[in-house]
Amino acid sequence: MKGLLLAGGHGTRLRPLTFTGNKHLLTIANKPMILYGLEHLRNAGITDMAVVLGPTREGIVELLGDGSDFGVRVSYIEQPEPKGIAHAVQLAERRMKGEPFVTYLGDNLLKQGAGAFVERFGRSGADCVIGVCAVRDPSRYGVVEMERGRVARAVEKPKNPKSNLALVGVYVFGPAVFEAVRKIAPSPRGELEITDAIQWLIDSGARVEAQEVTGWWKDTGTVEDLVEANRLVLDDLKHQVSGSVEDESNVHGRVSVGPDSVIKRGAEVRGPVIIGKGSVVGEGVYVGPYTSIGDRVVLKSGEVENSMIMDGCTIDTSERIVDSLIGPNSTVSSLGAARPKGKRLVVGAQSTVEL
Ligand code: G1P
Repeated sequence: MKGLLLAGGHGTRLRPLTFTGNKHLLTIANKPMILYGLEHLRNAGITDMAVVLGPTREGIVELLGDGSDFGVRVSYIEQPEPKGIAHAVQLAERRMKGEPFVTYLGDNLLKQGAGAFVERFGRSGADCVIGVCAVRDPSRYGVVEMERGRVARAVEKPKNPKSNLALVGVYVFGPAVFEAVRKIAPSPRGELEITDAIQWLIDSGARVEAQEVTGWWKDTGTVEDLVEANRLVLDDLKHQVSGSVEDESNVHGRVSVGPDSVIKRGAEVRGPVIIGKGSVVGEGVYVGPYTSIGDRVVLKSGEVENSMIMDGCTIDTSERIVDSLIGPNSTVSSLGAARPKGKRLVVGAQSTVEL
């Protein structure tokens, strides 16, 4: 069994974060998103995988290299334009060498990983096993309808979904999928939809089975999704202190403090909280539950809760920051008391600011 890990696309819904980097390198609980997918595949026994790179490929190759740092073999496939998941599959045909493979969308996180889907494929003799999850808002996703234990229909983002079962971003395919992706036409959004390829398989008599996820599943399409994914991952955080926690600081619950980081006296940290390397939580600062603080972050003053503060940020404010995502190397500060009252904003294109 081989792996196909998708890291292409433009990440338009995550702008401005994705103007300066690949969405799959955004960190969740201080780990680049793409590594969750890679580890899920590896833990399912897949050590040979191809990574599909899109136009914003910077950083992915530098991080993953040939895969040896992560105990796997990684090769790369270029998808210059985001023409869809089925198009990415098409590009991988020669690389998969006629073997079954798991296609894993690099922006999907699953508590249970990919093992159950791979096992089901091996056990059932199906031509394709897809992951599904009951959701409240199925029209955001590909939706499947089941009949007699098999997938009868798969529709991409239907306006009036006939079921609440969303397609999650894990698909185990046999080689028959390559004919399917050749036969389908682009959808109204101009992409070759994997959902249409699955429907083609069903229509041509292939056996497509669905494996319902256990535990949570998160597609990290929006900032809200990222903050929620961060929460879900931090729920399983282990307490581990490598840096220093000064006396007379207040640290409660599960907290991970990386090397060379320090929680100063008079600071309060309530887990689950992860703090990377070389960061400082200053005197009087409050860090509340479900917060990820990256590497080289300086929290001089203020309060942060249920948020992600990425590498190299400085926070020095009298305000409380909640439910927020602060991209790498940003500064958040308060105006001095002498200035006229009002908010001074420096906001990039297509940002959202809530005052
Ligand atoms: C894609 C698939 C969709 C699936 C979703 C899961 O959607 O087309 O069927 O439900 O991933 O994350 P997209 O993220 O391209 O909108």
